[in-house]
Order: sequence, then C-alpha cells, then structure tokens
Amino acid sequence: MRTLIYALFIGLMSVASAQVMAAADGIHLDKVEIDLSDKASLQRGAKTFMNYCLSCHQASYMRYNRMGKDLGMTDQQVKDNLMLASDKIGDTMTIAMRAQDAQKWFGVVPPDLSVIARAKGTDYLYTYLRTFYLDPTKPMGTNNLAFKDVGMPHVLWEQQGYKQRNEHGQLETASKGSLSTSDYNNVVADLVNFLAYIAEPTKIERVALGKWVLLYLIIFFLIAYPMKKAFWRDIH
Ligand code: HEC
Repeated sequence: MRTLIYALFIGLMSVASAQVMAAADGIHLDKVEIDLSDKASLQRGAKTFMNYCLSCHQASYMRYNRMGKDLGMTDQQVKDNLMLASDKIGDTMTIAMRAQDAQKWFGVVPPDLSVIARAKGTDYLYTYLRTFYLDPTKPMGTNNLAFKDVGMPHVLWEQQGYKQRNEHGQLETASKGSLSTSDYNNVVADLVNFLAYIAEPTKIERVALGKWVLLYLIIFFLIAYPMKKAFWRDIH
C-alpha cells in the first residue's frame, strides 16, 4: 500500500513538473481580450475567417445558420456576406481541399479549427497570428515565433506586411502592409474572438441562461426558507 502511494505521489509530481517545464519553455504570449458578447467583433472575425482561413482549414463542428443566429445575423446576411454561393445555410464549415493535396502542398494537413482555441488558448493564437517572419531557409519563405518551422504560410501578409528577425531575435518590419500595427492587432483580436466563439458556441447561451438560473434560485430561496422555518418550528 505504501509503495502504491509513493508511486502515485511521484507520478503526480512528474506530471506537474513536466507542465511547469513546458510553460517555461514557450515564448512570451501576448494577452488578448476575449468578449463573446461583442457581436460586432465576432462578425468582423467571422468575415476574416471566411476570407482568409476557410480555404485551407475547416471548422466542421460549426454550421452557418447556427453562427448567424449567435452573431445576430439573418440567414440572408450570412449568405450574402460570409458564404460561398455553392454552400447551403445548414451546412457545416467544411472545405473542398483534399487531405492528400494539402499534405503535398504544405507537408502537413491544416488542422480543423473548430476547437483550436480550447486546445491552444487564445493568447497563443493571438501571438501566433502576429509573429510570422521571413526565413529564406523555409519552404514557405516564412517561419513563426510561436510555432517553430510552421507549415502554414503568412496568409495575412497583405495586412501586416512582412517582419524579419534582428540580431536580438526580435521582430522588426521588413516591408509594410496595408494596416498599421494597432489596426492589424485589432483584426487578429477579432479573429481570435471568433475562434473562441466557435470553440464553445454554447457559452453565449450558457451565460445568458445562468442569470435566469440564479434569479430562480434566489426566488426559490425566498419561498423555501420561511417554509422551512414554519415546518420546523414545533420540532425544536
Ligand atoms: C494556405 C493554407 C492555409 C491558410 C489559408 C491558413 N492556414 Fe492555418 N495552417 C495551415 C497549415 C498547413 C497548418 C499546419 C502547420 C504545421 O503543422 O506545421 C496550419 C496551422 C494552423 C494553426 C495551428 C497552429 C498550432 O499551433 O497547431 C492555426 C491556429 C491556424 N493554422 C490558424 C489559421 C488562421 C486563423 C487562418 C486564417 C487567417 C489560417 N490558419 C489560414 C495552412 C493554412
């Protein structure tokens, strides 16, 4: 029995320390504010996602009409602004690219982004999408600070421009994009907000429902407590 407890203890300790090391190993992550109640931000993020990400990545857990409802858009608005003409409003966000082709082009299949925000964290995504830099030794010509030797090209290069690493390893501008740094940060923040939403679409409902549940509990307590007192009066 004692050895079992020791074994468990040592097992737990090594899991904990592995996690600490993994955290220490990583680069500094920039913080991003997530606000799932900001519909305008989610709509802007959805637009960027449809235009720049859905060609390679799918979000196969998410349906267009569900998204429209959550983001405060009508089916027609979703169709006009966010969808390819060939897709139907009840479809999930899948893509036509075949896995074998992706493997050939990028050396790796782009992951489904349905739950990436939960798997990797929003600060990671925010940092990742802002730290691509020129690296001529890589097949895409670019590398990434948060994801070393990444197989994804810098798809938002038109907006951000290109960065390069200086002798201290920090990123500096190599060529300007169409957006200022702060406008680009906002575009990425909206996109990450949208990725957080698709990773947990029911969260918006849960938060709204939670208020009613609390109200119900308070009212229930106000009724139940005097009743309890009345019932127990004679027994005490
Ligand atoms: C041209 C194809 C292509 C496009 C467009 C594209 N990606 Fe990727 N993406 C990839 C590939 C390939 C990988 C896998 C990289 C690897 O594993 O080396 C990837 C990986 C990722 C990852 C995973 C990173 C990790 O740590 O696992 C995220 C997040 C991501 N992409 C987000 C996006 C977002 C957001 C967009 C839209 C702005 C986008 N991608 C557009 C090809 C693409």
